[in-house]
Amino acid sequence: MTTANAANISPANRTRGSSKQANSYAMALLALATVLVGLGTIIVSVALWRRLLSPLSSVPGPALASVTRFWHVRHVLKGDQNRALIRAHEKYEVSVSHPDGPKKILLATLHKADWYKVATFPDGRYMNPFAATDPKVKNELSKHVAPAYTLSNVLQSEEAIDNTIALLLGLLDKFAKSGEPVRLDEFVSFTTSDVVGEVVFSKPFGFLKKGADIAGAFAASEAQSAYVSAVGFFRWIHVLLLANPVMTGLGIVPWGHIIDTAMGAIKERQANPDGRFDASSHWFRMLKQNPGRMHRHEIDSAAFNAVAAGSDTVSSGIQAFLYYMMRHPNAWRRARQEMQDAGLGGRQGPISFADTQGLPYLQACLKEALRIFGPGAMGLARRAPPGGLEIGGQTFPEGTTLSVHPWVIHHSKEIWGDDAREFNPERWLSTDAARLDKNYVPFGLGYASCPGQNLARMELAKIGATIVLNYDLRQVDPKQDMRYKAFFSLIAHMPPCYVERVRKNL
Ligand code: HEM
Repeated sequence: MTTANAANISPANRTRGSSKQANSYAMALLALATVLVGLGTIIVSVALWRRLLSPLSSVPGPALASVTRFWHVRHVLKGDQNRALIRAHEKYEVSVSHPDGPKKILLATLHKADWYKVATFPDGRYMNPFAATDPKVKNELSKHVAPAYTLSNVLQSEEAIDNTIALLLGLLDKFAKSGEPVRLDEFVSFTTSDVVGEVVFSKPFGFLKKGADIAGAFAASEAQSAYVSAVGFFRWIHVLLLANPVMTGLGIVPWGHIIDTAMGAIKERQANPDGRFDASSHWFRMLKQNPGRMHRHEIDSAAFNAVAAGSDTVSSGIQAFLYYMMRHPNAWRRARQEMQDAGLGGRQGPISFADTQGLPYLQACLKEALRIFGPGAMGLARRAPPGGLEIGGQTFPEGTTLSVHPWVIHHSKEIWGDDAREFNPERWLSTDAARLDKNYVPFGLGYASCPGQNLARMELAKIGATIVLNYDLRQVDPKQDMRYKAFFSLIAHMPPCYVERVRKNL
């Protein structure tokens, strides 16, 4: 019996037992200390090698950034990586802010950096053009998907886009009447999300009709952007947590209202492919014409990528345009006058894309807004090819990750002059415009550049022109700056404004 056995244990036995126990604790502690010292030695050696001996040790930069990714990831999570990188480049003049960067890194068809692999959807098994790092694989996958956004295809949705913009104007009119301040950041984001819904699967997400966020979709998508942008540097964590077949099989990944609606709409579209010609019509047509070469999951990925890449980006661009125009009333007046001179003054509703093409000053203002406040907030990262890559006198060995950051390039005084940080649309109308264009990279450049840029330019021009012609905006607090989070794309929050409808004597 247990009690009898316990009574039989002598004090000597007890002492021997506890000294045995003490010995095994000591051994365990020694083993733990050995592992910790070993790990510490490895970490310190790697850090010292990176800092002092690696072929990149001569590249100046923040000490922490030279030994670990945590410097960058900390700024990604804070949402200020664009400014932190500009500060670092100013202080250390890292060579990829060199004017040759866009040509030698983006136009040279290099492999993309491993960060992009985080974009497989729904899990690591399913490749798509954004996640593919090998240019050949990327181009093969894009072949079926990207033509959905050619200008002629996007123009087929112009009427639906106009109906969406009309809902936005209805909301603005309501606020103009009541005199209440309007949260344009929200309304513009509702609009660009609903436009993606229309253009991709002829089904808006319903934000504008409701005039409100649905099921906290925008708050959730901000958290998702922060997560994806940071975890891309440690993809194994993402695979372990979410992007694995078990999670996909169980269907418990919390994508939220927008992705759930998108996936539902794609299924509806597959069952009834004869709707308006939209992006998913194009994809299902490609799937039918390329059996064995295109797969059904590529359509889900394409829809996911459109939703992830096509809403916050355009919203930030439109907000940047309105914000800088509001702060430069002369530019606002001149753009409006240009439209009146072009015979568009009487238009109350959405301006057509064709009409916006005849407005050079408005186009210069839009271009300048994307330069000074680019919606792409992460470096476009590539890997140095075999034989290495020479930029600005520095040679980077094969495999080095090199990135061109739109904000760093667009804010470089070396490229744009002393007024690099000022909103100056005139620069695009000067004789210098062709030189400047070579360093203008809001949509990236080369084989991996943004496939949705026709749609983005169309939305920017139509919404920007329509608001400038028909409304006056005034900040509630003129001192309040633009707020934003710089994840992979930038999520902007322009300050609240009063809105007034321009009176027209028609
Ligand atoms: C002003 C708005 C936009 C900006 C500034 C922008 C910018 C960019 C940039 C910089 C990239 C990455 C390029 C690289 O990695 O080198 C990208 C990728 C991408 N963008 Fe955009 N974008 C915008 C709007 C849109 C829209 C409206 C769509 C479509 C609905 C879209 C769809 C995509 C997709 C699918 C990718 C992934 C690349 C691929 O699949 O080939 N974007 N965009």
